[in-house]
Amino acid sequence: MKLKDKVAIITGSSRGIGRATAILFTKEGAKVVINCKENVEKAEEVLEEIGKENGIVVQADVSREDEVKKLISEGVNRFGRIDILVNNAGEILRPGDWKSDVKTWKRTLDVNLTSAWLMIREAAPIMQKQESGSIVNLTSTVGLLGSQFVLAYGVSKLGVINITKSMAKELAPHIRVNAIAPSNVMTDMTKGAGEELIEKFRQNTPLKRIAEPEELANTILFLASDDASYITGEVLVVDGGYSLK
Ligand SMILES: NC(=O)c1ccc[n+]([C@@H]2O[C@H](COP(=O)([O-])OP(=O)(O)OC[C@H]3O[C@@H](n4cnc5c(N)ncnc54)[C@H](OP(=O)(O)O)[C@@H]3O)[C@@H](O)[C@H]2O)c1
Repeated sequence: MKLKDKVAIITGSSRGIGRATAILFTKEGAKVVINCKENVEKAEEVLEEIGKENGIVVQADVSREDEVKKLISEGVNRFGRIDILVNNAGEILRPGDWKSDVKTWKRTLDVNLTSAWLMIREAAPIMQKQESGSIVNLTSTVGLLGSQFVLAYGVSKLGVINITKSMAKELAPHIRVNAIAPSNVMTDMTKGAGEELIEKFRQNTPLKRIAEPEELANTILFLASDDASYITGEVLVVDGGYSLK
């Protein structure tokens, strides 16, 4: 088992990539803090699936400082430490294009970018005391390449890359910080784009399919575990070749 006795906080783990990661992590021996913004029922289903002894559910909006503090403290109160933080919670808010209103722009940055910084700000001191830890952030190929229709989201994901690289330097040598950059994954977020656009994504991907959440969970596990013990500050693109030119 790759994560035996490790404690992981996975933000946004009621659905999608976060959910798949929580399930995989517990198969690998971890205890997990399952987090959701509002879908407590979905989060409880994940807990049911992994077994109540292996996790807890904490409802917290990770864009809010007070709720981030609550999430971290409930995790530490239950399991006593934090070995792994996966900053996965994210949302594409609309209108997210370049004509977006200021409220949506700011909310998009709060949910996708400020959240990652807040979570690290609160969790890293605990990891520093332990002199060990691993952080995996979810960015996107949109953050690397730019994209039409989702400017605010793309900017937030570019910011996550900078957080990854900056914090890898800040938190070395005991804590590693990495990111994964998916393109299109079959989750509610992608389903929201509609079948026509999904088919376009499929055709524009050399592997000719959309990733399953479990395929992303595998790469998050790799970066979180000792298999990646000499990797920090890296952004691993997991996109079926989508960004190849
Ligand atoms: N899907 C893709 O194609 C794709 C591609 C590139 C990058 N990503 C990134 O991968 C991550 C996961 O995406 P996904 O597709 O798995 O998303 P998803 O299926 O839409 O699930 C989003 C998860 O994030 C949670 N969440 C959203 N806002 C939150 C907040 N403010 N506080 C706490 N939790 C919050 C949701 O909780 P509730 O259930 O309570 O709403 C849910 O658990 C995101 O960061 C996304 O940007 C996804």
